[in-house]
Amino acid sequence: MRLHPPSVVVFSGSSNRPLVQEICNHLGISPGPMDIRRFSDGEIYCRPMMHIRGKEVFVIQSTNGGSENIIELLIMIDALKRASAEKITVVVPYFGYARQDRKTKSRESIAAKMMANIIQTAGATRFMSIDLHAGQIQGFFDIPSDNLTAALLFKNYFLSKHLEHPVIVSPDMGGVERAKVLSRMLHCDIAVCQKNRTETDKVDSIHLIGEVQGKSAILMDDIISTGGTLCKASELLMEKGAKEVYACISHGLFVSDCLEKMNSSVFTEIVVTNSVDHPREFLQTCPKLKILSVAPLIAEAIFRICMNMSLSEVFDDISGPTLFKDHQLPE
Ligand code: R5P
Repeated sequence: MRLHPPSVVVFSGSSNRPLVQEICNHLGISPGPMDIRRFSDGEIYCRPMMHIRGKEVFVIQSTNGGSENIIELLIMIDALKRASAEKITVVVPYFGYARQDRKTKSRESIAAKMMANIIQTAGATRFMSIDLHAGQIQGFFDIPSDNLTAALLFKNYFLSKHLEHPVIVSPDMGGVERAKVLSRMLHCDIAVCQKNRTETDKVDSIHLIGEVQGKSAILMDDIISTGGTLCKASELLMEKGAKEVYACISHGLFVSDCLEKMNSSVFTEIVVTNSVDHPREFLQTCPKLKILSVAPLIAEAIFRICMNMSLSEVFDDISGPTLFKDHQLPE
């Protein structure tokens, strides 16, 4: 796959440079030069170090963490807009604040909507992410927005394991649609856990709807943060007679003692993507982790956007001959 460098530039924020480098390798280009610095008081400075007037630019930044990554992203978009880029596609592999997508109690913020507003106000002309916490978040944007899915990667991975009786399990009611997508791809059943929380980060009780007896259960979630949700769900699945339990998760935040919990959990394997970057030494502390790269998925989507090609094949359950293969853009 090779993009025509003079007209298309891919810029990286600081949050996940290894992923952006990998995406650029797929596209046959180098990341565009961007000067990103901190002033001594902590303020962020961003300046593209090449002229981009009239160009199609992509800026890639996951917005995990409280505020640094999102603020840096906004400043990059603003700089690109003021430098007269023609199109600015903002690629946010992990879109932070997505869990605050509605009011569940009075006086709460809908922070996900506000994040969408400020990304647009900064100057984004298109938005792309992977496995948004809720598909409806796409509607928070009034610019074209695409919600890619890591399900294709999980499908290929679990097919290669030749599990005898897989069952996809959603750890909560909100993840049922996501679980259905993977269950259709693997032609297997789904089960659902119903969890109750009294505090934001604590799961209180959990019940299973569906059958897992003697099966290889694959828990599928969008986010692993403290690991509490998945640990509780995995124990319940073993209690209900599952033969073994796997997990596949789109975004690994791994906060506090999450990886220690995973080490002492019943999981056979925990499959997660590299949408959020972590030091290799940190990930190596959990031998049960298997990291799949979303770089080919994002590179394919970027290529298709540049070529005005359909994106539907990147979303759908197909791995046709052109998907994730190298392409040559016409000169
Ligand atoms: C919640 O609705 C999400 O889909 C995840 O289940 C949740 O964020 C996981 O958090 P934790 O790992 O802290 O239980």
